[in-house]
Amino acid sequence: MKPPPRKLHIKSYGCQMNVYDAQRMVDTLAPQGFVETANADDADLVILNTCHIREKASEKVYSELGRLRLAKEEAARAGRTMRIAVAGCVAQAEGTEIINRAPVVDVVVGPQSYHHLPQLLARAEADGRAIETEFPAEDKFGFLAQPKAASIRARGISAFVTVQEGCDKFCTFCVVPYTRGSEVSRPVAAIVDEVKRLADHGVREITLIGQNVNAYLGDGPDGRSWPLGKLIHRLAEIPGVTRLRYSTSHPRDVEDSLITAHRDVPALMPFVHLPVQSGSDRILAAMNRKHTAEDYRRVADRFRTVRQDLAFSSDFIVGFPGETEEDFSATLALVTQIGYAAAYSFKYSPRPGTPAAEMRETVSAAEMDERLERLQGLIDSQQSAFNKAAIGTTVDVLFERPARNPGQVVGRTAYLQPAHVMASADIIGQVLPVRIDSLERYSLIGELASGAEMRAQHALSI
Ligand code: 5AD
Ligand code: SF4
Repeated sequence: MKPPPRKLHIKSYGCQMNVYDAQRMVDTLAPQGFVETANADDADLVILNTCHIREKASEKVYSELGRLRLAKEEAARAGRTMRIAVAGCVAQAEGTEIINRAPVVDVVVGPQSYHHLPQLLARAEADGRAIETEFPAEDKFGFLAQPKAASIRARGISAFVTVQEGCDKFCTFCVVPYTRGSEVSRPVAAIVDEVKRLADHGVREITLIGQNVNAYLGDGPDGRSWPLGKLIHRLAEIPGVTRLRYSTSHPRDVEDSLITAHRDVPALMPFVHLPVQSGSDRILAAMNRKHTAEDYRRVADRFRTVRQDLAFSSDFIVGFPGETEEDFSATLALVTQIGYAAAYSFKYSPRPGTPAAEMRETVSAAEMDERLERLQGLIDSQQSAFNKAAIGTTVDVLFERPARNPGQVVGRTAYLQPAHVMASADIIGQVLPVRIDSLERYSLIGELASGAEMRAQHALSI
C-alpha cells in the first residue's frame, strides 16, 4: 500500500556535495511518501543539511533551529507534527551537543548514514529521538535511491555526481577529514550507470565531486584501479554528455592521466578549481598542505601546457595563525603570477578539534579584515579583467534555463560565466556559439552567432 503523502523541506548549506546529498535524501525518502516542498512552515519533515567548515556556517544552523522551533510549535497548535532532522557535517561533529542545545531536533544523521534515514525517522516516531553519526562499514551509495526520470528533468541540465568522498590530507585548519572520514572512491561501473541515467533524461553537464576528487581511485571494470583521468575518458563516451567538470582538486594529487584528459577529452572543460590557501611556504607547511608555492606553480604550468585556454579558480585563507605581512605578500604575489578567473577567500576560523585551533599566534581581527579586503580586491580585478576579455569574442555556451528577463535564455560558458541571449527556450540543453557584446556585473550578454540559430533548428528537426 502506498504511504500517505508527506511534505519534506531540505535546506542545504555549504558545499556542492551537500547539494548532491540533499537530492539523494529526497530520492531515498520518496518511497516513504515524502514530496518536496519549498516552504519549511508547512513541512512534515524539515532537514537542515549543515556545513561545519567555518564558524559562521555552523552558527547559521542554530539560528535556523531557533526559527524552526516556532514553526514546530505553530504546527503543533494546528494539530500537525513537524519533525526536524539535522544532517551534514555539523551533525557529524556535534551530534549529542545539538540534541542538548536544541531539544527541537528529532533526528541527527551524519553524512555516512543517509541511507538509514527511513529507519531513523521510524525510530524518532516511536522513541521520540534518533541519532546516528557512525561510519557504517557498508557502501552507502549502493543503498541510496536514484532519482526518478521526472525529478532528474526537474533538476535541470547540469548535475553533480559524487565520485569520491572524504579526505586523508589533514590540513591543520580543516574539519573535513573528521566529518567526512577517510577517502573512499565509488566503483567506475556505479558512476557510469548513474551518469548514463542522468544523460538519458536530459542532463548534459556532469560535475564530478569529491572532497579531494583527484585522489579518486575506483575499482574499474577491468579489475584495476582507475584514476580520475581514466574515469573522465570513459564518461565522455556516454551519449548526451557534452560537458564534464570536477571539483575539488588537491595540487598534490594531480597525476598525469588528468593532465592528458585535459588534452584529449574535448568535453572536459578547461576550468579547474585548484585551492592553494596561501602563497607562503612557511604557512603552507604550518597548514600541512604538503606542497610549496613553487610546486603549485609547476602544477598550474602542467595544466596550461596541454591547454593554453585553461583557467583556474582557487580558495584562500587569510590570517592563519602566525601569518605575517610578509607571508601575506607571498599570497598576493602568487595570485598575481597565476592569474585567476575567480577565487574564494576566507578569514581563518579555528575549528574545534583541529591542530590549528591549538596554535597560539593568532592574527588580530582587524588585520584579517584588512588582508581579506586587499586579497579580494586583487581577485576581483583579475576576475573582471577575465570577464571583460570575453567581450567581442565568440564563445560556446551551454543553455540551461529561461532567464528572469522575458525572452532571454541563460547558459554558462566553459568558465561558468553566466551568458544571456535573446532566443527561444528550445535551445535549452544545447551548446551554441555566442557572440559576446557586453558585460553586466558578472553576466555576459550576447547573441547567438550566425548559423547557431539554424543549427538549433536543425537539432530540433532531427
Ligand atoms: N577557516 C577558514 N577557511 C577554511 N576553509 C576550510 N577550513 C577553514 C577554516 N578553518 C576554506 C578552505 C577550503 C574551503 C572549502 O574552505 O579555503 O578550501
Ligand atoms: Fe580539508 Fe585539506 Fe582535505 Fe581540502 S585537502 S578537505 S582543505 S583537509
